[in-house]
Amino acid sequence: MEEVLISEEAINKRVEELANELYEVYKDEKVVFICTLKGAVFFTCDLLKKYKGRALIDFLRVSSYEGDHSTGEVALNLSISEKNIKGQNVIIVEDIIDTGKSIDFLYDYIGNMGPKTLASCTLLYKEEKSTAKNKPDYVGFKIDDLFVIGYGLDYNQEYRNLPYIKALKK
Ligand code: IMP
Ligand code: MG
Repeated sequence: MEEVLISEEAINKRVEELANELYEVYKDEKVVFICTLKGAVFFTCDLLKKYKGRALIDFLRVSSYEGDHSTGEVALNLSISEKNIKGQNVIIVEDIIDTGKSIDFLYDYIGNMGPKTLASCTLLYKEEKSTAKNKPDYVGFKIDDLFVIGYGLDYNQEYRNLPYIKALKK
């Protein structure tokens, strides 16, 4: 049996806590949640179902991983319209911060569109490994430098549909 790192119950509980934490900050202000495809799709949906404030949702897609390693290059595969960002409270929703390259790229990309405020919320954070300039504002779980799958996270596009998170055995 492969070991479950974070159970479905633990994920649900933490996602609800994060939604409440965000609501305490933004209250009745409008917030644009940017879901970074594909990995953050499960997290974003669950987070927003628990979020009690005024939420808009948009999507963008970046990629930097091949199999289980980072290529070090971040490519934008689906962009977002500046008119949806300008003057808004924006939260980038990520599945995981690993090297930190993607979140830094996204901060520059969205930051240049003139949001009123910009923050990031990630389900998982490899804090020890990450060299991100832009530290995440809201973190679900800090994890060690393991390659993890499930709840949106993939290995060669598989395993995203697992309802829990586990480490991939080599
Ligand atoms: P970065 O290295 O922080 O730029 O992370 C880029 C992206 O790589 C993440 O958003 C994930 O999509 C993917 N990634 C990083 N670490 C893992 C992992 O442990 N499992 C699955 N995907 C990962
Ligand atoms: Mg991602």
